[in-house]
Amino acid sequence: MDRPESGEKHHPKLPPQGDAPGLLEQFLPAYDGKMVQKRRIPRMALVAIVLASIAVVALVTGLLVWHFHFRPGKVRKMYSGYLTISSHTFSDAYENYNSTEYKELATKVSKQLYTSIYKQNGWLSRYHVVSSVQGFSEGSDNGIIAYYLSEFNVRENRLSLVEEALDKLMVGGETARQSRSGIGRTTDNSLIIVGMTSGAVDARLAAKNLKRSSERLLHAHANQTDSFRSPGFPESSYPSNLYKEWQIRADPEHRIRLEFDVLDLEKDCRNDFIKVYDSLAPTEKQVITEKCGIRLPGERFIFLSSGNVMLVTLYTNEEKNFPGFRAFYSQVPGKIKECGGELTAGGTFTSPGFPSHYPPNIECVWNIEVPQGKHIKVKFNKFSIHSPEEKPLDCPTDYLELKYRICGEKPPKTVYSIKSNRATVKFHSDMSHVGEGFSGEFEAFEPADPCPGKFQCDNDLCVSTNLKCDGYNDCGDMSDERGCSCNDTQIKCKNGFCKPRFWSCDGVNDCGDNTDEENCGKCKASFFTCRNGRCIYAQKECNGYNDCGDGSDESQCEKSIVVRCSDISYKCKNNQCISKLNPMCDGEKDCEDGSDEAECKCGIKPYKSSRIVGGKDSNEGEWPWQVSLHTKTQGHVCGASVISNRWLVTAAHCVQDNEKYRYSEPDQWEVYLGLHTQSETSKATLKSVNRIISHPRYDRISYDNDIALMELDSPVTLNQNVWPICLPEPTHDFQTGKAVWITGWGKLREEIESVAPVLQKAEVRIINVTVCSRLMDDGITPRMICAGVLSGGIDACQGDSGGPMSSAEENGRMFLAGVVSWGDGCGRKNRPGVYTRVTEYRNWIREMTGV
Ligand code: ARG
Repeated sequence: MDRPESGEKHHPKLPPQGDAPGLLEQFLPAYDGKMVQKRRIPRMALVAIVLASIAVVALVTGLLVWHFHFRPGKVRKMYSGYLTISSHTFSDAYENYNSTEYKELATKVSKQLYTSIYKQNGWLSRYHVVSSVQGFSEGSDNGIIAYYLSEFNVRENRLSLVEEALDKLMVGGETARQSRSGIGRTTDNSLIIVGMTSGAVDARLAAKNLKRSSERLLHAHANQTDSFRSPGFPESSYPSNLYKEWQIRADPEHRIRLEFDVLDLEKDCRNDFIKVYDSLAPTEKQVITEKCGIRLPGERFIFLSSGNVMLVTLYTNEEKNFPGFRAFYSQVPGKIKECGGELTAGGTFTSPGFPSHYPPNIECVWNIEVPQGKHIKVKFNKFSIHSPEEKPLDCPTDYLELKYRICGEKPPKTVYSIKSNRATVKFHSDMSHVGEGFSGEFEAFEPADPCPGKFQCDNDLCVSTNLKCDGYNDCGDMSDERGCSCNDTQIKCKNGFCKPRFWSCDGVNDCGDNTDEENCGKCKASFFTCRNGRCIYAQKECNGYNDCGDGSDESQCEKSIVVRCSDISYKCKNNQCISKLNPMCDGEKDCEDGSDEAECKCGIKPYKSSRIVGGKDSNEGEWPWQVSLHTKTQGHVCGASVISNRWLVTAAHCVQDNEKYRYSEPDQWEVYLGLHTQSETSKATLKSVNRIISHPRYDRISYDNDIALMELDSPVTLNQNVWPICLPEPTHDFQTGKAVWITGWGKLREEIESVAPVLQKAEVRIINVTVCSRLMDDGITPRMICAGVLSGGIDACQGDSGGPMSSAEENGRMFLAGVVSWGDGCGRKNRPGVYTRVTEYRNWIREMTGV
């Protein structure tokens, strides 16, 4: 509450009644004094009381208006940090906040924080509300580190003064935690504080009540990984308006390793987010990372602490709740082996802890030396060092120092050459915000011939000479594709690049200047090309009117307006049609009845995300809709996708009888759900098949309508490893050029026989139908969709059939864009994979299964 300050609080002064001239006059000429007075006084008094009340009300109203509108308001500010106490010795009792030792010391610390720190500074004690201890951990030399949280209630116009004073509160400098000196503030009764930091708490957290609950105290162990998860995960979404903390500790001389395998929060960090701190208190000065949204395939969310404590917090606001997260923690030795050293000849070096994010507060120095007369080339396959948004180039916080400081994100294969045979490489990270780190290789080169037998790109990379002028950007900076004369399988772009001829008119701007997409029978610039080929003025796109006649100008809009229904507009449950492109489960309510967001328990991988030919091992639970279909005699035969707890989608050609096997009969099949490694079927869920519905118009010659449904004999329990993928509506558009994922246990190469032991994943791109039809000898029907990498090497193969082509849409949710169907060999150049176009079967699937 407000404390009165001189002259600020007014007690309403009522005018003495006698001073009111009108009233006095009336008393004087009294004729029958008593009577008159008796009758008149109450009336006068009444008037006086009414007037007085009006005055009081007016004054109070005035005061209130002034108080709330003109007088500077008060702001709640939370500050947090730690104190290093040398006068006490750490013992396990200080980890348990129910112990008497904990309670006693906590009270002492809070008191002393107020009396000997905030009180020293008039500004601070005046606005201080309360301080509490968040936890203790062991400091160096057996001391104790106390993590505190202080609340202030500050008048707005004094805020900057208070902030300044609090930010300056630092004893022993940044390294106070490691401080060994005994010089510190000795205070009257007991605690000797040798170090202190103080920093603001995230304003969003300050608005919540930061309270502790006992379940979030975690202790990491060596050689053991434990986990924790957001409330409700994965069965239900996290609650609204939540603030939750998890304190993690490790043994002394150890660090904490924290890995999120699932993170699925609201996209907007202002609403829901997690923060990881290199402390037990939520101080901004020691934020390791802040995350919201979704973890995408291939992203690594692994973090290391600098000391033996870590804090994870989850904040949610009132609306839009998502599945949440799951994190694993363990302890690793404090000394990191990848930090610095002597490097000679050639080899690799990485940021400390790589592929984890590097820890805060670390410095490593490498000395590279190559034979006399040679120079050094350093190539980074990964480079991601945190740089503050305001000063991205100066690299004031974290950096790698080669010739100069480098930080930020660099594309893979970034090369730096050093004109010397010796180099010193220094890596530095400050107290907060970390990055994914770097992985570099270095080699010696002859200054006169930097790329023996190879082509030297402008960026110093060396690439094979036959990659020059092949239409692909192999250097990364296009220098291998400049100044080329094109051959007859290529077209010449206006900007001078040569590109394969069949890339023209495929809807992707391959030239960069769009030359390959001009004169494709499309409409001129400033016109919109309708699906039916008509040209309309570009301004007419998304104006709410069906100008094309087929609705195509009103079906791919950013905003959703209700439009007249057409074949390609999205239809809500209430039969209204809307103009937005792919509105289903995109996290925004587009239909008035909310039906576009009603059935979205699908497509979010509740697990880890980051062969298929040319693919890589996937993580366990990364593709929870992926199914392995075994036959009792042959083992793995085909893939399939979970679309509900009862139904799977696979390829029709997987369930056709041949001379030897009766694949169409349910009792031939064994369904493995949640399987990762083929040899570990015991870890998966095994189900039998009750019914198989093959598409009635499946054509075994053309592979047209290559889709089938399998009903399980009993519902499967959905969990992190078994989860449905979303089915796209008929109007869903998977655009040419979009990156999608294919997964399966199919053959790793065309020539070999065996299937992959571990579930493989590979990223491929959607290929334009016309281009694909030309490449695949006109074998593509409108019910097929092609995807691949035209340069070859990445594709589905035998054994992948029936499995999913998963497409991450707008908000990271995965949709079943295709079913692996056929191809010509596997991973051949200019021979993409062909998939069943699932949008064509959405209504059939609904009719057959009710899903
Ligand atoms: N039909 C194959 C199977 O039964 C899958 C072919 C996919 N091939 C390709 N190159 N994409 O497993």
